[in-house]
Amino acid sequence: DKGQHRHFMAKEIHEQPSVIARALGAWISDDRQRIACAAEAVDWARIPRLTIVACGTAFYAAHVAKVWMERVARLPVEIEIASEFRYREPPLPARGVTMVVSQSGETADTLAALRYAKAQRQVTLGLVNVTTSTIAREADIVLPIHAGPEIGVASTKAFTAMVLCLSALAVMIARKRGEIDGAGERAHVDLLSTVPRLMSETIALEGQFEALARDIAEASDALFLGRGLMFPLALEGALKLKEITYIHAEGYAAGEIKHGPIALVDEATPIIALAPHDALFEKMASNLREVMGRKGRVALIGDGAACRAMADEVWRSVTLPAVDPLLAPFVYAVAVQFIAYHAAVAKGTDVDQPRNLAKSVTVE
Ligand code: M6R
Repeated sequence: DKGQHRHFMAKEIHEQPSVIARALGAWISDDRQRIACAAEAVDWARIPRLTIVACGTAFYAAHVAKVWMERVARLPVEIEIASEFRYREPPLPARGVTMVVSQSGETADTLAALRYAKAQRQVTLGLVNVTTSTIAREADIVLPIHAGPEIGVASTKAFTAMVLCLSALAVMIARKRGEIDGAGERAHVDLLSTVPRLMSETIALEGQFEALARDIAEASDALFLGRGLMFPLALEGALKLKEITYIHAEGYAAGEIKHGPIALVDEATPIIALAPHDALFEKMASNLREVMGRKGRVALIGDGAACRAMADEVWRSVTLPAVDPLLAPFVYAVAVQFIAYHAAVAKGTDVDQPRNLAKSVTVE
């Protein structure tokens, strides 16, 4: 049931604050002091590294998790696309842990990666939405994301629920590795508890994204740029846009554009810059000035400070809430989802069932 929404994707975007609140409720202790989940059984203090394997949007959630886990838990994390991992058959460290991430729990390549890791005697974790799935049955430890059924082929609430659960996992691992104490853990739980409100505030800006998306819908190519935690969000934004609008879109780490993609920049190519005013903002701003110097049309998605710094120079800007840098993925996810969604509506494409795509990819 789509409720009052035109498409399941719209419903699922709007549902995210309540989905995230529910997922967090399931991942914290009753007294809301600490993270509580089945992965506490792993000896995190002694493992040399964590390997995370996934496909598509789930892989981008893993990419966000890598940054969180390295920063908060100081744990080395490798992320792998399942279709590469499984055939490359990489050596995995003794006492290592491999986690697969999958909304459906049925993605063929991700399942094969799980089976490979088990054969390599890794402890395996399966972070899934569908808890009756094959991956949930076969993983040593199942970690549910509690997103509820996701109908739209373009994944939205499953992505942010994955990111929330992986962030919570990073906090628990940080405690187990002695990187944070009880007060530090409580502070992180409190931080994560602000996510539903921040996402609601971003959802309230839908009209601004709709206006921007109408212009983006006219383009045949688009570029998404980000740095740090915004790099995987740029990849996710490009994937969402190409999936449902069929506009050719690329996501790039902003520092990489001068190594090639800047050659593509012209006045016909919108450049969607995901640029909170964080420690990397000045670097990002200089990348954006490089593309604007080549007539690139920059749509700046930033917080108040970022937009104030660059509003006069850019083609368009949308001001998002200012957030702790670790929480930016949740807020900017909503932004890229709305851009893709409203561009698809403007183009009249089939939002929930885009051509050539299936909700779960059970073929290799
Ligand atoms: O069910 P999974 O999370 O394993 O699916 C992985 C990808 O097929 C999926 O995320 C796909 O990229 C989505 N259509 C993206 O919106």
